[in-house]
Amino acid sequence: MHFHQLLPIFAAAAQALPQSTSVRCREVQIPITVSTPRFIVTADIHDDWDAAALTLNLTRRDVTTSADPLPIEANMSEPVKSTYTVGATLCGNGGPTLVLTHGIIESKLYWNPKFLGSEKYNFVDAALAQGYSVLSYDRIGVGSSPKVNSLTDAQFQVEVAVLEGLVNYAKTKAHATQVALIGHSYGSYISSGAASHVPVDGLVLTGFSGTFDYFAPFVAGAGLRVAKTQNPFRWGHLDSGYLTTSDLYAETYVYYAEPHFEHTVAEYTFNVASEPFAVGELPSVLATTVNYKDIKAPVLVLQGQFDVSACGGNCVGVVNGTKELFTGAKVLEYVDNLPAGHNLNFHKIAPQAFQKIFTFLKAQGLKP
Ligand SMILES: *[C@@H]1O[C@H](CO)[C@@H](O)[C@H](O)[C@H]1NC(C)=O
Ligand SMILES: *[C@@H]1O[C@H](CO)[C@@H](O)[C@H](O)[C@H]1NC(C)=O
Ligand SMILES: *[C@@H]1O[C@H](CO)[C@@H](O)[C@H](O)[C@H]1NC(C)=O
Repeated sequence: MHFHQLLPIFAAAAQALPQSTSVRCREVQIPITVSTPRFIVTADIHDDWDAAALTLNLTRRDVTTSADPLPIEANMSEPVKSTYTVGATLCGNGGPTLVLTHGIIESKLYWNPKFLGSEKYNFVDAALAQGYSVLSYDRIGVGSSPKVNSLTDAQFQVEVAVLEGLVNYAKTKAHATQVALIGHSYGSYISSGAASHVPVDGLVLTGFSGTFDYFAPFVAGAGLRVAKTQNPFRWGHLDSGYLTTSDLYAETYVYYAEPHFEHTVAEYTFNVASEPFAVGELPSVLATTVNYKDIKAPVLVLQGQFDVSACGGNCVGVVNGTKELFTGAKVLEYVDNLPAGHNLNFHKIAPQAFQKIFTFLKAQGLKP
C-alpha cells in the first residue's frame, strides 16, 4: 500500500479525536531583537573534566560571597544588540494568554508532552480546555530556537529580554488582552525578571523558592556532562558549552520524587523532552539581582514539596520566604506541599496542580 492511500485513514482518525493541541496550535518563528549588556563568562568547557571543574566551582560553599569563584570576569559596559528567531507554539486566538517559560535541561515539551498516556501531564491542553490562549517557546539555544553561543548569548539577562519581546509579540501580534507569565525552574527566574521590567497581569512560579541556597545538590546531583559527547546523535551540532545530565537516574534525582511519579514519564523526559542548557546561564543568573519588589502583578508560587534545586528536598519552611521577596505584588499566594519533586508537571498530582493555577488566575481577573 502506498503512503498516500493511508492518508484518508489518518485524516478520518484525526477528525474523530476531540479538539487537541494539534488542531488549535501552530508552530511559529518569532524574531526578537534584544539590546542588553553581556557578562564575560570565563568558564571554558571543552570536555567532561572541565564540566567537573565547573561543578566544583558552582557548588563551593563560598560561591555567592564577594570573593566568589563564579566564572564571570566583568560586565561589558555597552549593550549588545542581537536578533534571535525564537521557536514557539502558539495556541488559541488571543484574549487572556499564558506565556510559558521552561527550565534548564528542559524544552517547551515540558508544557506539552507527547507520549501514550501524556494527557494528564499536558499543561497546554489543560489551559486550552479552560479557554486560555497559550504561547510556549524554546529558550534560545534549545530545541526549535537557534543554536546560540553558550557563553556570550545564552545569558540570563538576554533571556529575560527575549521574554519581554515575546510579551510584546503576544499583545501586538497574537491578540492577547491580558498576559500571565508561567515559569518553571530557571524559567521562573526569567519570568520574574521580565515581570519586574514590564507590566503583566499574573505571575505563576513553579520549581522556584526565590533562594539559591539549595542549588548545590542540584548542580552536583545532575552529574553535568558535555552534551555533544554525551549524545552525539542528538546534540553533536552544539558547542561544547552545552551541558546535560549524566544519566536517567541523576536526572531523576534532581527532578523527581518517589513515589509520586511514573518511571516511564521520567524515561520520556530524559530520552525525549530534555535539552541541554548553556554554561553561560547559571553564572549569569547567579550574578544578577532580580528586583522582586518591583513586581506588581499577583504572584502564585506553586511547589512540589520535595524539590531538590528550589528547596533542598523539602519546601515546607522555605517557600514561605517568598513573602519577603514579593513585597510589591498585589497578591502573593504560595503552596509548599504538593506531593511532587522539581518537575511538578510530570508528577501524578499534575492535573490538580494545573487546576490550582487556573483557579488563582481566574480569582485575579484573568477570565477566558
Ligand atoms: C574553576 O575555578 C578555578 C579556580 O578559580 C579556575 O582556574 C577554573 O578556570 C574554573 N573552571 C571552570 C570550568 O569554571
Ligand atoms: C555586573 O552588573 C551587575 C548588575 O548591573 C552588578 O550587580 C555586578 O556587580 C556587576 N559585576 C561586575 C563583575 O562588574
Ligand atoms: C518560614 O518558616 C520557617 C519554619 O517554620 C521559619 O523558621 C521561618 O522564619 C519562616 N520564614 C518566614 C520569612 O516567614
